Amino acid sequence: MNTQVVDHPLAASLLTTMRDVRSDNAAFRAALRGLTHMLVYEAMRGAEVEQFDVVTPVATTQGVRLANPPLLVPVLRAGLGMVEQASTLIPQASVGFVGMARDEKTHQPVPYMESLPTDLSGIPVYVLDPMMATGGSMVRTIDLLVARGATDVTAICVVVAPEGVAALEASGHPARLIAASVDDGLNENAFLVPGLGDAGDRQFGPR
Ligand code: PRP
Repeated sequence: MNTQVVDHPLAASLLTTMRDVRSDNAAFRAALRGLTHMLVYEAMRGAEVEQFDVVTPVATTQGVRLANPPLLVPVLRAGLGMVEQASTLIPQASVGFVGMARDEKTHQPVPYMESLPTDLSGIPVYVLDPMMATGGSMVRTIDLLVARGATDVTAICVVVAPEGVAALEASGHPARLIAASVDDGLNENAFLVPGLGDAGDRQFGPR
């Protein structure tokens, strides 16, 4: 599996704001939007384009457009904070939704919502979730996508644990991963260390 860590001073500084316990919900959401912009920009670097003639005020020249715009899939709740920025950057993208909550005791993902196109064959899918800890939620989400025919999946996360990366790799799914940081690991509650806390709670309040 291909894992890319976006190494950039602006990304590192926004990630620091997200990690900082003193950042309030609004500051956390704003930093997440900014970082999403950079992660999606990097994720799209190799995207296929097609050429067409564009008429400028002066002449006709060759322009490009995305050959195959992706489907964006925010994982609720935390991924919601990434979808507006991602779709601003890719206006041609469609959006599907998956609701996934991690059981606090077992740490197992519990799917509670799935709103996706029936057939995802041939469509690049970008899963948006700020955190991948055990990887259970991401693997389960990609299970749902693959069951609909997806063969080209990109997971876009802010922070991930090595345990999550290993779980995604072990799943054998056709996925690549883009993140701002691979953190040290998980604590006894399966929370990312140093992490950034609970990205859902820090955007929207406790549930
Ligand atoms: C968080 C996070 C991921 C998941 C990561 O969501 O946004 O979806 O946990 O953990 P995992 O890799 O061990 O599965 P959470 O379940 O807290 O739900 P929320 O987004 O509604 O807060």
